[in-house]
Order: sequence, then structure tokens, then C-alpha cells
Amino acid sequence: MKVAVRYFSRGGNTKKLADAIAEAVGAEALTTEVPLSEDVDILFLGSSVYAYGVDESVKKFIAGNKVKIGKVVNFSTAALVRSTYKQVGKLLKEKNIPMAEEEFYCRGSFGPMHKGKPDAADRKRAAEFAKKIVG
Ligand SMILES: Cc1cc2nc3c(=O)[nH]c(=O)nc-3n(C[C@H](O)[C@H](O)[C@H](O)COP(=O)(O)O)c2cc1C
Repeated sequence: MKVAVRYFSRGGNTKKLADAIAEAVGAEALTTEVPLSEDVDILFLGSSVYAYGVDESVKKFIAGNKVKIGKVVNFSTAALVRSTYKQVGKLLKEKNIPMAEEEFYCRGSFGPMHKGKPDAADRKRAAEFAKKIVG
């Protein structure tokens, strides 16, 4: 099974999850600036919200995708909203890319809010989640 990990992270919070997930599934965590170069069965796609929207880099990554993706598994961090599932889901739907119902979300630090998040326990949960997804 081919598994890939892509993420966008301005401040490093979502990267922490991406690294934990990538290690758990034996893939490399690359940013959304790096397009997929071959078909994949599962793509773990990490994002966050900045003033209510996902970053342009994530939008471009999805819109510009040229390979077959079996399914996208969303993961995200944010301070207030509960995940990027809906926003990313809308972008994927426009490209007819399937999205798994399962997702991983946790709080991400933002100024004085949620200091230290994602923490070690979040990273562990993310790794366990990813292992379960790939079976
Ligand atoms: C410029 C900016 C705008 C943000 N806007 C929101 C927002 O609208 N809603 C929210 O829940 N979190 C918001 N956040 C918090 C981020 O989603 C949170 O810090 C996230 O974990 C950042 O992930 P990253 O470190 O991977 O970039 C914002 C953060 C920044 C820096």
C-alpha cells in the first residue's frame, strides 16, 4: 500500500502531527509545496486555519493534483475551530478526490491559547490513529 503525508504549517503545530504520523506509517512528511509524483492509496493531509481559511498552499496542492489518490485522511490543528475537515472536504470534492470519514484533530497553540499544543500525548494519539488507518 502506498501512503504519503503532506502538510502545511506556518507555525510548526501541524508539522508536529505530520512528523508523528509519517513516522508511524513509514512515510516522509513533506509540505504541500511538494506535489505527489505517483498514485497513492492513502494521503494523510494536514492543514490549519488562519483567519477562518486554510492556506493557499493547501488549496493549490489539491487543485493542482495530477495523480490518483485512493482517499485523503484529514488531520489538522486550530485554536478555535474544531477541524479543517469541511473546508478541505469542499476542495477535494471539486476534484472528485475521496475523503475518509475518519480524521485527526487537536488544538494548536495560538498566542496565549493552548500553550504547548500539540503535546506529546497528541502526537502519540496521532501516531496511533495513523497506524489504525493503514492497518
Ligand atoms: C494569522 C493566524 C490566524 C489564525 N486564525 C485562526 C482562526 O480563524 N481560527 C482558529 O481556530 N485558529 C486560528 N489560528 C490559530 C491556528 O489555527 C493554530 O495556531 C494552528 O495550530 C496553527 O498551525 P501551524 O502552527 O501548523 O501553522 C490562527 C493563527 C494565525 C497565526
